[in-house]
Amino acid sequence: MLIFLVGFMGCGKSYVGRHLAPLLQYDYIDLDKFIEDNEGMSVKEIFEQKGEAYFRNLEQNFINNIDAQQNIVISTGGGAPCFFDNMEIMNTKGITIYLNRSKKTTLERLHKGKHKRPLIADLSDEELSDFYDERLAGRKPFYDKAQLHVGDADIETILAMIREKIN
Ligand code: S3P
Repeated sequence: MLIFLVGFMGCGKSYVGRHLAPLLQYDYIDLDKFIEDNEGMSVKEIFEQKGEAYFRNLEQNFINNIDAQQNIVISTGGGAPCFFDNMEIMNTKGITIYLNRSKKTTLERLHKGKHKRPLIADLSDEELSDFYDERLAGRKPFYDKAQLHVGDADIETILAMIREKIN
């Protein structure tokens, strides 16, 4: 079973994925990290040197090509579900989980990790808040297609929701 974690930048997809996978005895892939390792550069460098479209193609290739007969938890990047038919493919290949965390939680996390994220690296706090509102409005219709919406649930609760869904 593939389990895809989706949601806005800073909602904690990597954190949840890293902790969830061992509890399920699944492997774990962080899609941003997978792309960085394959390309030999950071996501920020890929955006700067090769452009966003190039990065989006790499995300799409991964989603299209991953073998669905494996047990893996995958943390996707915040934009991955919102390009091409990625969300439909993820829904076909496995379980999709939307971490629809609160704005407050997300902005606190984003504030700390801003420098790593090319889309927000240069924004002030006020601009970041506006960016969140605008970007989420555009992306929510894609995230909403996920099969489970877990809100601010902790990892144990998410685990119970997945088990209920699988069984
Ligand atoms: C992006 C989110 C990032 C990363 C890239 C673009 C986005 O991943 O894929 O910087 O478009 O929202 P995280 O959601 O892990 O920050």
